[in-house]
Amino acid sequence: MEFHVRPGGVLRGRLRVPGDKSISHRAIMLGALAEGETRISGFLEGADALATLRTFRAMGVDIDGPHQGRVTVQGVGLHGLRAPEGPLDLGNSGTSMRLLCGLLAGQSFDTTLTGDASLSRRPMRRVIDPLAAMGAVIESGQGGTAPLTVRGGQPLHGIDYELPVASAQVKSALLLAGLYARGRTCVTEPAPTRDHTERMLAGFGYPVQQEGRRVCIEGGGRLRGGEIEVPADISSAAFFLVGASIAEGSDITLEHVGMNPTRTGVVEILRLMGADIQVLNEREVGGEPVADLRVRSAPLKGIAIPEALVPLAIDEFPVLFIAAACAEGETLLTGAEELRVKESDRIAVMAKGLTSLGVTAEPQPDGMRIVGQPDWSGGRVHSHGDHRIAMAFTMAATRAREPIEIEDCANVNTSFPGFVELAGDAGLALSRGDAERRAQQRSNSP
Ligand code: S3P
Repeated sequence: MEFHVRPGGVLRGRLRVPGDKSISHRAIMLGALAEGETRISGFLEGADALATLRTFRAMGVDIDGPHQGRVTVQGVGLHGLRAPEGPLDLGNSGTSMRLLCGLLAGQSFDTTLTGDASLSRRPMRRVIDPLAAMGAVIESGQGGTAPLTVRGGQPLHGIDYELPVASAQVKSALLLAGLYARGRTCVTEPAPTRDHTERMLAGFGYPVQQEGRRVCIEGGGRLRGGEIEVPADISSAAFFLVGASIAEGSDITLEHVGMNPTRTGVVEILRLMGADIQVLNEREVGGEPVADLRVRSAPLKGIAIPEALVPLAIDEFPVLFIAAACAEGETLLTGAEELRVKESDRIAVMAKGLTSLGVTAEPQPDGMRIVGQPDWSGGRVHSHGDHRIAMAFTMAATRAREPIEIEDCANVNTSFPGFVELAGDAGLALSRGDAERRAQQRSNSP
């Protein structure tokens, strides 16, 4: 699937982007392992979170929905999952695969996890190695990649682990394995990463000890099901934060956005660049802070992005690069080598796309140097099947002189179902183009 975006556009109105992906995954996982019923609202009906949902159905969990974001999970308790009949296909979802490695390491049965071409290239040793230190047995392909087979029936024991990379997925995998481990499992992170697992465990009544960057849990406890209201995903809101900042005359309000301080790096970085973002109506919903964000267009300036903000905005760099491309002066990102192992190599793919629009974007091993300019040409860019890259380039059209065509956009559905319609309602001239339509145009042309 392709996106075609006409140049220009002004973003206006109030919108609510879909539910948070990270929280949606965890709600299904912990709801399934809990005792009693868990009622989720605001669940993200995107392919990644649905892959997690299907996985637990395949392991015998009764899950009703989603119906307009409502899902009801009948928890089976920590030891109630059943062996699935075949391999579990997690599609494009790194979060599902890494968190499940930890959770499945504690089961009595074997499971095989598979994924699409992108997921099958992503590094899994970062979870396999520390889980092995806990006693888990996980077989991988050469190079530590999927498909993975998690052997059941292995007694696990707690470890004290220092994460070599700031990764919430690895931290969460170890904490989930820690539910099944003898003794205490502690994880220390080099920099704060998203803490939804810790918050939700506590919300389900499981004791979690947090001391600075070290989090510990004791195995052998119980989870109690309950209500979870999933806020709108700040990572999806990010496209509109940037779009409205750079499209002159824009004034948009994004409703009910999750504002967990481990996720708000994008707001901080944009503000450092001069963006006009107001945080309104702050409140707490189900243990997570939430607010409405009003964004009005403003002239941006280039900055050296503070490295401490990198893990707090790790998924937002594709669209932050678009902001940098129209900021006055130079923007420098460093300390972000993790971007090379996301759904695509986001440094290489963004640099290539920006360069093809005529922007100076120099990839670095751990980041990017971008020289801003007032506008750019249009043309074709390739998203390499990466949802966030596809959506980032749609926002680039607000400053383009000619249309932008973006290839390989079907995966936008992994995190943001309804993106085309919502972006269109907000004021972007965006449509789905596809091969058939192009072929038809060719056959109609004289
Ligand atoms: C996620 C953690 C991040 C993020 C991903 C979702 C999570 O990955 O990039 O989209 O839900 O835990 P890392 O922990 O690998 O940085």
